[in-house]
Amino acid sequence: MKILVTGGAGMIGSHCAEYYAKDRRNKVIVYDNLMRSKIFASKKKSVEYNWNYLQQYKNIDFWKNDIRDLASVDKCFKKFKPDVVIHAAAQPGVRFSLDNPQEDFTINCQGTVNILDALRRHNAKGSFVYCSTNKVFGENVNDIPLVEKKMRYDFRKGGGVSEQQGIDHTGHTPYGVSKLAGDLYVQDYAHTYGMKTGVFRMSCIYGTRQFGFEDQGWIAWFSICYLAGQDISIYGDGKQVRDVLWVEDLVQAYDKFLKSPLKHGVFNMGGGPKNTMSLLELVGYLDEITGRKVKVKFKEWRKFDQKVYISDIAKAKKVLGWSPKITPREGVERMVRWLQGNVC
Ligand SMILES: NC(=O)c1ccc[n+]([C@@H]2O[C@H](COP(=O)([O-])OP(=O)(O)OC[C@H]3O[C@@H](n4cnc5c(N)ncnc54)[C@H](O)[C@@H]3O)[C@@H](O)[C@H]2O)c1
Repeated sequence: MKILVTGGAGMIGSHCAEYYAKDRRNKVIVYDNLMRSKIFASKKKSVEYNWNYLQQYKNIDFWKNDIRDLASVDKCFKKFKPDVVIHAAAQPGVRFSLDNPQEDFTINCQGTVNILDALRRHNAKGSFVYCSTNKVFGENVNDIPLVEKKMRYDFRKGGGVSEQQGIDHTGHTPYGVSKLAGDLYVQDYAHTYGMKTGVFRMSCIYGTRQFGFEDQGWIAWFSICYLAGQDISIYGDGKQVRDVLWVEDLVQAYDKFLKSPLKHGVFNMGGGPKNTMSLLELVGYLDEITGRKVKVKFKEWRKFDQKVYISDIAKAKKVLGWSPKITPREGVERMVRWLQGNVC
């Protein structure tokens, strides 16, 4: 099988690429322009690490280019005619989208249509997986009644946000809009052109090869701060909660969709109600795992932060026969150990 992974040098993309490259019968194509370092002005190398890491797999081909460059996209698809595309390339930061809405649009929306349509033109029988986000629901999720506890907020009724949640009549941020536009195109290509497409609306995905910073990848970022003995800033009171999903569990969900007879599907994807964590709880885990303490500074709430987001993953469990395996405590420990050996 030929699998093309856009954003293949990113955290999620590099795990998808490695998973499929481990089967020597597969050919994997990593399409990435290593833009994450530029977008987030990273002083240290970030996705370059993943690009180099993947070079150990001889059945991976590397295509270093921009998904907005249609001629390059076409050339790549013409050469490889992939059976599967996992589209993980994006600018993934809300803050970046607020400052650069036009560039956010060209990468996340136009770039998605470039890749999706290239598959239609070069192999319409191929399958497409789209890395969507919970941000497509915008501020609608803030209407769900909450309860405040000592270390966290929770949905008053428990459970999580299902695929039935509305997407209209609310604010999203430019990132939420550009990702939603891509999400709808991917759904539409299943309906209009009969392609097999899967949309995964993900909450917080974390794992090794994640180069977090203050605006994106909070579990990795807090862990890096602990290992560097650096202060942490928390915007709000730290009781905000997310369901968290270890990246290798996510790849299993993609794979189950790709192997299923389903023609298309939209799935809310995360650790679900059993795998949630507040910022304060993460600080507690990190105290315990690293045996250190860092100074936590509390700052004003940020306008676009949701207090609670928890995915209802019942559909993915039922339809894909999938469930997450790694608990938050285990995941944070794995993250710290990886950072200690590779980054910090
Ligand atoms: N990590 C999460 O918690 C999370 C949650 C919801 C959705 N997502 C989505 O999942 C996808 C992957 O996220 P990630 O955490 O691995 O991010 P990441 O930043 O680690 O990976 C994205 C990759 O895309 C590449 N890229 C960016 N612009 C590009 C362009 N114009 N052309 C080619 N390559 C480009 C980057 O260099 C990077 O390697 C994104 O689409 C993101 O919106 C992630």
